[in-house]
Amino acid sequence: MKLTLDSVSKYYKDVAAVRDFSATLSPGIYGLLGPNGSGKTTLMRMICNVLRPSRGDIFYNGEPIDSMDARYREILGYLPQQFGYYPNFTAKNFLTYFAALKGLAPFSAEERSEELLEMGGLSSVKNKKLKTLSGGMLQRVGVAQALLNDPQVLILDEPTAGLDPKERIRLRNLISSFSSDRIVVFSTHIVSDLEHIADHFLIMREGSLMRKGTAQELAHEMQGKVWEMKATQREAESLEEKLLVSGRRSIGEQVALRIVSDTKPSEKAALVSPSLEDFYLYHFQED
Ligand SMILES: Nc1ncnc2c1ncn2[C@@H]1O[C@H](COP(=O)(O)OP(=O)(O)OP(=O)(O)O)[C@@H](O)[C@H]1O
Ligand SMILES: [Mg+2]
Repeated sequence: MKLTLDSVSKYYKDVAAVRDFSATLSPGIYGLLGPNGSGKTTLMRMICNVLRPSRGDIFYNGEPIDSMDARYREILGYLPQQFGYYPNFTAKNFLTYFAALKGLAPFSAEERSEELLEMGGLSSVKNKKLKTLSGGMLQRVGVAQALLNDPQVLILDEPTAGLDPKERIRLRNLISSFSSDRIVVFSTHIVSDLEHIADHFLIMREGSLMRKGTAQELAHEMQGKVWEMKATQREAESLEEKLLVSGRRSIGEQVALRIVSDTKPSEKAALVSPSLEDFYLYHFQED
């Protein structure tokens, strides 16, 4: 199973929302990371064939997706960034309704909806109206919707937006438990959402694929640039003014700082092993 993006670009007038994006995706979880406006949603909409590239092509197992049409929809699951919920539907009715739209027969629609409600920890609220559910529950309903047809390709556009830390973990686990033998693309600008579940990262900047690699590969680029040191409150404040501080933790009277810097920030600083978070901060500090 393979999804190929071949020099995909999307222009709005003269503005390139996505430019010359090439990648080959095989089963696994891909983290699509980039700041606001870097082109994540535009790219995902093209992968879902709801938006045509201005240039370039997308292939599923070698076949152009726009010529596959209904066959492509059958293997695709999509959670859009702006997901239209039907406030007066119950969670259960919403899923069976979407299942019918996706062409599942009534009995399978019912069975599959129940199964996904169970998987998403939503059984106890399945008869509640969507407008009464929490943001985290709604996102899980949205993910369940994307999973109805048991898709080979699952595209999730910021599924964790607006969730609290506990809900993020829950959603992450749900996605990760589903991901084996499938191509999953998960967009976010919160590195920690992906650091432990994504196999590969696609980093976008201003419409382009700025970098791709595993968390280890990207973190490795930061070797020799990430430091830790203890400082007094006053030292910490002055360091924070002039340097990129990626972590700060009080230890009694002192402060432990994690600093991303090309050069040694202080005599007291020692090199530590870098993380993906450090990589992201280093490249996107202004965002
Ligand atoms: N329909 C449109 N018409 C004109 N410009 C658009 C349209 N959709 C997106 N853009 C522009 O394309 C660029 C990429 O937008 P996109 O929504 O893909 O970014 P994003 O990475 O998903 O951002 P966010 O993190 O805020 O969701 C932005 O500059 C945006 O203003
Ligand atoms: Mg977006």
